[in-house]
Amino acid sequence: MTDQLLRRTRYCGELTAADVGQMVTLCGWVARRRDLGGLIFVDLRDRTGLVQVVFDPETAGDAFAVGQRLRSEYVVAVRGTVAARPEGLANPDLPTGEIEVHVGQAVVFSPAKTPPFYIQAESEADETLRLTYRYLDLRRPDLQSNLIFRHRAVKAVRDYFSDHDFIEVETPVMTRSTPEGARDYLVPSRVQKGRMYALPQSPQLFKQLLMVAGFDKYFQIARCFRDEDLRADRQPEFTQIDVEQSFVDQEDIYRLMEGMMQHLFRVVLGQELELPFPRLTWDEAMERYGSDKPDLRFGLELVDVSDLVAGSGFKVFAATVESGGRVKGICLPGGARLSRKQIEEYAETVKNHGAKGLAWMAPEADGSVRSPIAKFFSEAELAGLIGRLGGKPGDMLFFVADQNDVVSASLGHLRVRLARDLGLVDDSRHQLVWVTEFPWFERDEESGEPVPAHHPFTMPLPGHLELMQTDPLAARARAYDLVMDGYELGSGSVRMYQRDMQEQVFAVMGVAPELARDRFGFLMDAFEYGAPPHAGIALGLDRLLMLMVGAETIREVIAFPKTTSAGCLMTGAPARVDPGQVAALGIKWQEADK
Ligand code: AMO
Ligand code: AMP
Repeated sequence: MTDQLLRRTRYCGELTAADVGQMVTLCGWVARRRDLGGLIFVDLRDRTGLVQVVFDPETAGDAFAVGQRLRSEYVVAVRGTVAARPEGLANPDLPTGEIEVHVGQAVVFSPAKTPPFYIQAESEADETLRLTYRYLDLRRPDLQSNLIFRHRAVKAVRDYFSDHDFIEVETPVMTRSTPEGARDYLVPSRVQKGRMYALPQSPQLFKQLLMVAGFDKYFQIARCFRDEDLRADRQPEFTQIDVEQSFVDQEDIYRLMEGMMQHLFRVVLGQELELPFPRLTWDEAMERYGSDKPDLRFGLELVDVSDLVAGSGFKVFAATVESGGRVKGICLPGGARLSRKQIEEYAETVKNHGAKGLAWMAPEADGSVRSPIAKFFSEAELAGLIGRLGGKPGDMLFFVADQNDVVSASLGHLRVRLARDLGLVDDSRHQLVWVTEFPWFERDEESGEPVPAHHPFTMPLPGHLELMQTDPLAARARAYDLVMDGYELGSGSVRMYQRDMQEQVFAVMGVAPELARDRFGFLMDAFEYGAPPHAGIALGLDRLLMLMVGAETIREVIAFPKTTSAGCLMTGAPARVDPGQVAALGIKWQEADK
């Protein structure tokens, strides 16, 4: 049989000048075919890259007729000799550009229809089309390299944890709700009608129970499910690098994860990360960067000037400070060249985050200050403001006056936007930082009520259990985030491991004892049978890979991602099912949902 004769001996992309003279068999897809009056040139593609193969009527024999039939995306095997390309015809843009393969034998395994979009790196094709034909999209070299990168990264992570005596344990996907702040995906039970499994938002409860069971050092490359609004860095199902360890506190987790990140970057990118990562408390991060996920690759820190403007003649600033608000500023080096229109756009940016306006000042070389609000300040006040922000002639100072959280959110976003617009971010560099001592509660955006910021198994800081009752927003947790390039990469905490403390926390959170018992009784029971102190963390693997390969969205590092409406365009999931299947579950659709 011909296809037995033509069994692959080499990959396309790995051939070099060192292989000249070798007889090779290649298998792959036709990326491009050119017929140059007599000679037929084909770029043959497999997952390693492209190589040019040549059908010459003088030497190809019967294979020449095969060459004539080839079209884009045909699947073929060719056998031939590696030859140096003729003088002057090398292609320096192609890794295999110095050589070509002169074909002596060829078979077509499959013809192909013309694909709905051109298969090439950095496709401009509409993403809807690409996701519908994801198997064709995945032929593109950038997606192939992303997924191969993903494989290597996961292997490096597994190796690291194995080498540190961690044990990978699989936890169930059909389980009970694990609260991580999103909606659950539910799976109805046929056998026990009226009951549902929940898909895990994380393995949180199980990994804590594994600690009670004595596994001591656990990790898992874990699939998680969350029904939440999707964005570029979120998917309804995603993967965590999930970690838990006994007899440790946050310092051990920092060291462990820093080592993991260093190993990962070294093995898959050949980059050395500097250890330890810097740390900021949550309060410090909010104060200096207006964000709990600050991008530290650039400065533009927020500076408080409330004291300098409190008694000033600019009523907006003075009155804000008077009423318990704050005034903070950012100095943009070289920003004086911004146009009015650009400044107006930045005012829109801060208004979108709740600010009422954006004030600005540009110190001039002659000592004067260009600003619509300069007239409201004395010379000493102006000098004080500019001095506090470190402004120099040519710089632009921006100010927002408001309640503290509005100032943080608006200037925090402005800071990121300015850095991006002015090219202050070095995308080839990565910067990691630990943000520590997160608040136990945060204010719900809609209701304004305090809601838990992390999951309810997190230990409060010493003395903060009381604060949770008296001043909830001031209570801090032994919780930390690992932040990379302005993204929340992962979260973790030191856990409670005593029943009474966990019960007190549920009580403070307003979870009724019966509900707590019903949902988490098994965890609290477990704590009564000898629970070790433990702590852990989970990193979003997809986000990590997105940042490492420099992709725009996590869809670029996931083989079969979902759209922003949580659908799969290729399979059509979620899909209607046979009414009999639904009836067997004891479920009745409402008329409108059928
Ligand atoms: P958390 O809920 O913060 O913590 O999740 C940890 C990390 O998972 C990633 N992530 C996501 N990635 C893609 N799509 C999503 N929808 C999505 N949601 C979260 C983020 C996030 O930082 N059990 C705790 C961890 C612990 O305490 O050990 C947890 O799940 O990168
Ligand atoms: P006004 O006197 O209200 O027109 O404001 C003068 C300047 O101050 C304008 O550039 C406004 O955008 C700016 N401004 C108004 N309110 C605020 C505020 N709360 N914080 C910062 N700047 C403001």
